[in-house]
Amino acid sequence: MEAYEHFELLINDRIVKTPVAIASMAGIVDAAYVLERADHVGVAFIGGYSIDQPTLDASRAMAEEGRTEFVYDDPVEELVRQVELMKQSTVVPGINLRGSAPAAYLQIAEALKDSVIYEIDAHCRQKPMIDAGCGEYLLKHTGALVETIRALKSAGVTVSVKIRAGVSADDRRLARMIWEAGADLLHVDLMDFGYQKLRQIRNASPIMLIANNSITTFDRAMDMFSHGADLISVARKSDPWTLSGLDAAITRYAAESGWYNAPKQLCRGGDIRALAFCCMPVKDCPLMPTLKKIGMSRDEYIKLKVSIVENTPLAGGEGTCFGSLAWCCKSSSPCLFRNMTLQKIGLTLHDYMRYKHRMADKIMNRVFHADPDDDAS
Ligand SMILES: Cc1cc2nc3c(=O)[nH]c(=O)nc-3n(C[C@H](O)[C@H](O)[C@H](O)COP(=O)(O)O)c2cc1C
Ligand code: SF4
Ligand code: SF4
Repeated sequence: MEAYEHFELLINDRIVKTPVAIASMAGIVDAAYVLERADHVGVAFIGGYSIDQPTLDASRAMAEEGRTEFVYDDPVEELVRQVELMKQSTVVPGINLRGSAPAAYLQIAEALKDSVIYEIDAHCRQKPMIDAGCGEYLLKHTGALVETIRALKSAGVTVSVKIRAGVSADDRRLARMIWEAGADLLHVDLMDFGYQKLRQIRNASPIMLIANNSITTFDRAMDMFSHGADLISVARKSDPWTLSGLDAAITRYAAESGWYNAPKQLCRGGDIRALAFCCMPVKDCPLMPTLKKIGMSRDEYIKLKVSIVENTPLAGGEGTCFGSLAWCCKSSSPCLFRNMTLQKIGLTLHDYMRYKHRMADKIMNRVFHADPDDDAS
């Protein structure tokens, strides 16, 4: 429960104890690998596992060329065995899968039901996998990707899609499409694009986001969290030492701050969740252009924030710039007026941030259920 208090993260109906995940590495990340690191991660994607004849043949061809691959005859038997082993830990299990058609994924979902997150590997760039119709193939043939997501969702399971940024002509549209097809998580290898790409994706859809690629320090993790990530994942450097360092520092920050993945303020480059920290629209600043991009009028914005704080401690705030804490800045911006107001009403900065978190969720809900402009960035 303490973990839930810190991160308020549920995936596949299970509490995620820390927003640090292990990302898959074929031939390396299996249940045994995860169990050795289980104390420091909240989620782990084992695999990639090939799950039908064309992808199993691709795995064999790649293994012959010297790549690490999991090779077996019966994918269902192997996955049932691996997932059974993962049950010893509190890590939320995911399986990274390579299949050549939706039916292959469905066969695995029939065997494992809702015990795992099903991650579609739309990431692999090895030619044998692409020729077999998975990995990057799915980023170029998005109809097949959507069909696979829908097939898995029809089985009532939790779906993640692993992508590599920069392969699709427009990652914002891709993210939007994956969310609209019903996927629950988007796991993004950001390559060298960094948090700017993550922010674009965050601004294009409300899907739960896992940021990946070289996120091995607390500072890098915070860059991702403050631009839209819900979790970060590590593959190559997923040694126990790195993972435990990340877990400890992120957990400490969450306990102190009250909102571990709070965005930067909009004028400091934050994503649209940062509207929760924005002022009344009275000056020349990034607020109005952002509202225009998401298709929200000035009046709607004001009404929305006023209605969100109604009957909450954020409604008041006579001593603040705009007469209500609804318009007040992030806790990391020092402000005597806000802090005196909070003291007067007996609200800690930590709890202030939790209320701002609720506000951001409601703003995102409003933005993405009112057909926003795809081009927000
Ligand atoms: C040896 C190896 C095997 C990988 N296999 C897979 C895979 O099967 N499926 C997948 O989605 N990503 C795979 N990846 C990509 C990683 O999950 C991750 O996206 C990438 O290594 C960047 O993250 P990192 O900087 O934390 O390593 C693999 C990476 C490596 C190094
Ligand atoms: S409204 Fe305030 S917080 Fe938002 S962008 Fe403008 S100056 Fe920054
Ligand atoms: S009172 Fe302080 S925190 Fe609130 S809007 Fe003004 S400067 Fe920001």
